Parts: sequence; C-alpha cells; structure tokens
Amino acid sequence: MTDRMTTSETVSVWGISDIHIDYQENFDALLGIPIPSEKKDALIIAGDATDNIDRLETLLTAMKQRFRWVGFVPGNHELWIREKNKSNTSFSNSIEKFDAIIAMCERINVFTEPRKVGFGTSQLWLVPLFSWYHGPEESTASLYAEKKCKQDKTNEIWSDFFLTQWPKWKEGFTADYFLQLNKPHLKQEYNYPVLSFSHFLPLQELMLPSTQEQEASTLLHKDLTPEFNFSRVAGTAIIDEQLREIDSKMHLYGHQHRNRYRKINGVTYVSHCMGYPKERKRGLIAKHCAQPMLLWDSTNGFY
Ligand SMILES: [Fe+2]
Ligand SMILES: [Fe+2]
Repeated sequence: MTDRMTTSETVSVWGISDIHIDYQENFDALLGIPIPSEKKDALIIAGDATDNIDRLETLLTAMKQRFRWVGFVPGNHELWIREKNKSNTSFSNSIEKFDAIIAMCERINVFTEPRKVGFGTSQLWLVPLFSWYHGPEESTASLYAEKKCKQDKTNEIWSDFFLTQWPKWKEGFTADYFLQLNKPHLKQEYNYPVLSFSHFLPLQELMLPSTQEQEASTLLHKDLTPEFNFSRVAGTAIIDEQLREIDSKMHLYGHQHRNRYRKINGVTYVSHCMGYPKERKRGLIAKHCAQPMLLWDSTNGFY
C-alpha cells in the first residue's frame, strides 16, 4: 500500500478515530507526528478524543501545526457532561456542549463542514457527517441485532446513558437531531470524489469481523462482553443513506474499536481506531493504529 509512487507535490489525506487522548500515551503518539517545514496534508479525526473541551482544543491546535487541513466530528465521549471536569460545568446539556465544540473548531480553523483538499485535477471533498445511534425502539434504521445471552445489561452499564443530557425532543430522537444537521451538505454539488466520515457505524454488517479479520486476532473469536450488546448503541443505517446520497467513495468511521477495511456495494468502509493502550496491548487493535492511516493522495487516489 505504501510503496506507491508519490512526488514532493503529493497531497495526502490521513484518518483516525477514537484517539482517547486522556491516555497520555495516545496524546504523545499524536504529538510525535513531526511538524513539517511546509504543511500540505489533511488529517480527519472521526470522534472520541476526550470529554474535556480544553484538552480537545490543545490537541486540535497541535494537529493544525502539522496538517494544512484538520477535520473533526464529535463522538459520544465529547458530549459527556461531568461535574468533576471544571471546563464542562457551564453546559446545561450535550447539545450546548456540541455547539461549543463546533464554535471552537471554527475559531481554530478546524473544519466540521465539507472541505475540498488537493490541487489541480487531483482534488477531493472531505465531508463530515454528524451522527448518533438509533436505539432499537427508536427507528428501523437502528443497527440493533438480538444477542443470545443470559442478560442484556447494556442500558445499565453504557456510560452515555448517565453522562449525556439531551433537550426534550419535540419530534424524533437524538440521532435524528444530528443527522438533520447534515442535510444542507447532502444537497451540495461535489465536483471531485468524496471521502466522508462519521463517528458512528453506518452498517450492521461492519460490526462483525470478516473471516480474514478473525484470523488476524484470535481474541475476535470470543465474546469478551457477554452481557453487553454493542449493537444497541452502534450507529444508524441513515448514515449509510446519507453517504450514498453524496456518492461517497470511502467512509471513515469509529466508535466500536474494531478496525475494518471493507468494500461493500462500491463504498470502501474504513475503521482505524487508535483505541485504548490496553486494547493495543491485548491485540484487539493493531499497534500501527496508534498512528493515522493514509486514505487518499493526489497522485494515487484512494488507498
Ligand atoms: Fe471510542
Ligand atoms: Fe464512541
């Protein structure tokens, strides 16, 4: 993959998610990316950096020193409201915090709306798609799949249910709120290929490892959390409808901490989560995932 020819003029797009920078090891891995003499590449981060908005700003500012373009979509962790974290106490709900994150990104020139990168005939649209998950009782677009286990304790143990606060929706659910924010960008004309990104999963089948992925790690054969059904909180198929509406050729997503590279009906789905240090140590996540992945460059196109 990396032995393709490039020139000094080549513009590259790198992607990563679930960088969880409250782990200093993760933060340090990103700060270890060298600062170039001339910035020409792009980095997209598909959510789950930290629930501390000040720390998020520090990280994004550091990435802006290294990349010409930096794009970001919040994950579920960004929208947690925790008393103990001083910087978060001013938010009365998770939407207020979301709006503050988007405003902070705008202030430091991190894009959260479609952005064209590259030059001449080799350009690419990077399109962030905001999202949340649809629960099984909320929509048929939910990625929920029944799991045969003694008890499903997901609703009791999933942190989002305690750490996020939402306004009383007049209609729809949390996922619908975020998905409708994308609507103006679905109508836009894209004159170059599109690479989209979301934090949450767009398809149910991406949750399960392929035979090849199972072979790569024996841990993936086992159900490591028998009383937790991730599919309740995984994503929504409406993300997939939206990315297909804009004819996206590649979609980067995160959230599950299970990395994927899979082509389905003309779209390449990539999950490249950095995850927690202990997940990399256990082999659930490959060690190379502590660095962003090359997704596209202006010489070779998509990877
Ligand atoms: Fe995560
Ligand atoms: Fe997540």
